Amino acid sequence: MATTKVFAPAKINLTLHVTGQREDGYHLLDSYVVFADVGDRVTVAKAEDTSLTITGPMAEGVPADPGNLCWRAADAFGQPVAITLEKHLPMAAGIGGGSSDAAATLKAMEKLYNQPAPFDPITLGADVPVCMVAHAAHMQGIGDWVLPLYQEPLNAVLVNPRIAVSTPEVFRALPRKDNPPMTPWPEGGGFPAVVRWLSEQRNDLQAPAIALQPVIGTVLSALDALQGCALSRMSGSGATCFALFATAQDAQAGAARLAADHPDWWVTACALK
Ligand code: C5P
Repeated sequence: MATTKVFAPAKINLTLHVTGQREDGYHLLDSYVVFADVGDRVTVAKAEDTSLTITGPMAEGVPADPGNLCWRAADAFGQPVAITLEKHLPMAAGIGGGSSDAAATLKAMEKLYNQPAPFDPITLGADVPVCMVAHAAHMQGIGDWVLPLYQEPLNAVLVNPRIAVSTPEVFRALPRKDNPPMTPWPEGGGFPAVVRWLSEQRNDLQAPAIALQPVIGTVLSALDALQGCALSRMSGSGATCFALFATAQDAQAGAARLAADHPDWWVTACALK
């Protein structure tokens, strides 16, 4: 097989508790992570030299150079490849676009060369290990401890107000680094139990991100106002926020409404699992 294509789904932190900080500055996290059925697409082909071509509706402004995480993943793998990245996710958005692209590049190269990546994916970024799993997982440590889980698909709307957020800046603005971890999640009980449990958990980065970018508060209010919205929260260090709905119809109607009211926002209905 000379070409491999791998889906790079959006990563959503349904919860993100910051429970400590290491001496090297990295934060200890406790996070319930899920993945969307929307995302980027990475195609990898054997080549003489490594190259990166970026296409798709969100290609603008994404660097197609050796600093791109896809390119860095290929360099670390140690084989020259021609990479095509079809970009559908906004950049610096708290939904792991770059990390998911790097993980997809690694998976494509593992398939292409029939060998595992010869290094620890965490060296590419804290979110890359969970993005290798690409479905529901409990993430701890700085992102290096990942326990895959099963999650019944959740109907969601994702919104990004097209403001790039700097992750280090949001972490720096977090007043307390030693917040309580998550409480154990419910076994069974369906959507109502998931929402009840999630409503008792947090994203500790949400308040500092809103302080830096007040529009995130506007996005959350707009999601809360949608008919059938069961819960809204920011993902990662923002600015993307998600809302959960009992039915796909409600999520789709909510997304259509928001897209009409805010044509400048990135809005999509999706399933998370
Ligand atoms: O690992 P990655 O490059 O994705 O992280 C981006 C930045 O986010 C880091 O430089 C660090 O400032 C912050 N970060 C952190 N603790 C984590 C993950 C990321 O402080 N567990």
